Amino acid sequence: MKWQNINHLSVALLVGSFFIITCKHELPGSISGGGDASSGGGSLLPTQTTNCSTDTTYFVNEIQPIINSSCSMSGCHDAVTRAEGVELTSYAKIIRYVSPFNLSSSKLYTECIKTNNDRMPPAPMPALTLLQLTKISKWINQGAFNNQCTGGCDTTNFTYSGAVRIMNDTYCKGCHNPASLGGGIDLSTYASLKVQAANGKYLGSIKHSSGFFAMPKGGSKLSDCQIRQVEKWIQAGMQNN
Ligand code: HEC
Repeated sequence: MKWQNINHLSVALLVGSFFIITCKHELPGSISGGGDASSGGGSLLPTQTTNCSTDTTYFVNEIQPIINSSCSMSGCHDAVTRAEGVELTSYAKIIRYVSPFNLSSSKLYTECIKTNNDRMPPAPMPALTLLQLTKISKWINQGAFNNQCTGGCDTTNFTYSGAVRIMNDTYCKGCHNPASLGGGIDLSTYASLKVQAANGKYLGSIKHSSGFFAMPKGGSKLSDCQIRQVEKWIQAGMQNN
């Protein structure tokens, strides 16, 4: 084996053990969800698609992307690592940690609002934002359905605070912050995101253009409307608006 290869191997091992450490946390007893399939929500029906209503929180549009970027990424609750035996890669697996209509018995939520070292995602990874926690709680209180909606995005809204940052927090930030720098790329602040927007990588990756890694990694492609919002924000000068 050449020196360089050995070096690569040790870097890989280091990175690997880092992930194992950061994703570990102690749980009192076993983690078990009370997925209650009989109460309507949480049943393993195929995804139900409707037109978006602002009153409803949707699993596919809003909850799954948060989990993809903050919980089920490589090294944590993905199918390979299954940190603490927990895999959060599909609705069927996620609902095991949810009691529909019952927030306080839903580990998916209660693990994320802890203020001690057991919080998920574990420090130094960023905590979920208030907006994300609100979405998860609303989804659980509405029955934690396997639901999806279409038509909820408006291309005339393309401000940083109203569109780009919310999308980025949901789909990207969990894998792109100082504690988890996917591809060495930080998207956790306006300034760092702007760098990737200005060099063309941000748009190239979400458009799945050739020559770029397709993002969000492990998730579905963003909708055309979401991509258009980012594109318009970039064209308008990437303001912190
Ligand atoms: C599950 C983790 C994960 C998620 C979610 C994720 N990324 Fe990535 N990203 C990575 C990793 C890891 C890389 C390094 C390349 C690779 O391994 O695919 C990367 C690479 C990139 C790159 C560099 C692309 C290039 O061609 O050089 C950009 C830009 C990027 N991501 C943007 C985003 C954006 C924008 C989102 C949200 C829409 C996102 N990522 C969501 C993990 C993730």
